[in-house]
Amino acid sequence: MRLVRLASEIDFDGWRRAARALRTACVPPEDVVWTVDGEGDLFAAGEPAPEAGAPAFTAPRDFVELAQNAILHRSDERLALMYRVLWRLGTEPCLMRIVTDPDVARLRELAKNVDKAAHKMKAFVRFRLVSDPDQPETYAAWFEPAHRVTEKVAPFFARRFANMRFSILTPDVCVHWDGERLGVSPGADPADAPARDSLEDYWRTYYASIFNPARLNVAQMQKEMPKRYWRNLPEARLIPELIEAAENRTAAMVAQPPSEPPRRIVRQAARVSRDATFDATVPTTLDEVRGGVQVCRRCELYRDATQGVAGEGAKSARLMLVGEQPGDQEDLEGQPFVGPAGKVLDRALEAAGIPREETFVTNAVKHFRHELRGKRRLHKTPDASHVAACRWWLDAERAIVRPRVIVALGATAALSVFGRPMPIGKTRQQALQLPDQAQGVVTYHPSYLLRVPDADAKAKAFALFVEDLKFAWKLAG
Ligand code: URA
Repeated sequence: MRLVRLASEIDFDGWRRAARALRTACVPPEDVVWTVDGEGDLFAAGEPAPEAGAPAFTAPRDFVELAQNAILHRSDERLALMYRVLWRLGTEPCLMRIVTDPDVARLRELAKNVDKAAHKMKAFVRFRLVSDPDQPETYAAWFEPAHRVTEKVAPFFARRFANMRFSILTPDVCVHWDGERLGVSPGADPADAPARDSLEDYWRTYYASIFNPARLNVAQMQKEMPKRYWRNLPEARLIPELIEAAENRTAAMVAQPPSEPPRRIVRQAARVSRDATFDATVPTTLDEVRGGVQVCRRCELYRDATQGVAGEGAKSARLMLVGEQPGDQEDLEGQPFVGPAGKVLDRALEAAGIPREETFVTNAVKHFRHELRGKRRLHKTPDASHVAACRWWLDAERAIVRPRVIVALGATAALSVFGRPMPIGKTRQQALQLPDQAQGVVTYHPSYLLRVPDADAKAKAFALFVEDLKFAWKLAG
């Protein structure tokens, strides 16, 4: 029996070194016991000698990616499971593609749970101001992640709050950002986190103002925001009363006459909307585009949409991502790619190493085209006429942002960006010159990835999508 001792619960490098040594010494999984003792001197009884003539092996990339995630799972079985799969890959090179294999399925499940925990952490960490007059302004958050994802997620917060000093305290580990570097220290106690700060009142006021009683779906809400996270969310104590009041508020909203857009917006938009004059002024700032799409009448889609959704992101982004049209959630929130397709896009950007905030994300069509099915609003693909009418806004965004590379996500976006239909499968991974000096790249739409039914095919499509984003990012320099 071989005893392997890793330095920490998430010591992937240690696991990889040990697994490689065991594998080349032909030690089968049932002869290995994996432990974590904080010392990390891997083999208590010395490193096993490689077996003479043992074939060299390389673990496939999809296995390594899954294992890097799975090791963050709290389950005790993970280290042995990872080694078992690695061992079997020696004689079953296509094992990772057999999604029904119990070991592969379990490994995928662990990795998926870890991904979910990472997403929840990104969504539910709430910082509080640490009041210490002798220290520069610092924020701290207490969080209990379902799995050991803190160090994986920390770079996301460092990018998002680059100018803010903060600490995230968890029972496993604490991470600290001083504006330049991320540091790590041992886990903490909830008592170490500041109890509350005055910013929470603002946050609660904001949350109450964006809470839309007409769209309330309690089951969905609890699925998205499980109760285990409520303890650390300042807005959580508002939720019961908001739910209780939702029915009356909805009735009052329905009874109210429609509100007029603010005069200033109408005036500003009139300057840039074709309705005001056929010789419309081309918008020269992103604010003008944002105001303009609110009162745009270039096609009829404005009638059924809640609002126009303009692009968002870095003002001089090197990379512009163009989707089809806002979905149900984007229409309500007024921002592009914040719903399910947006989550896929976020995951793919992260996998491609592209910070979303350094890109500019927009759509070919700025209003949500849909049809009503009962209370549900079902997405309806925009016609070529809608794409043509809305190119005015996309062209304006292109001229203002001046990206080096424009990625068309799906066929509608490609039609808008290139002015003609583009076969995606045949044109992906190519840099196509556009008249405005930018290069164009075509890839799949993230919603397509959501619709692929088979898990294996879905993972493959996702990998291609990430590959295309990486290609575009590299092209953008
Ligand atoms: N799909 C899109 O094409 N754009 C969005 O903003 C959301 C979903």
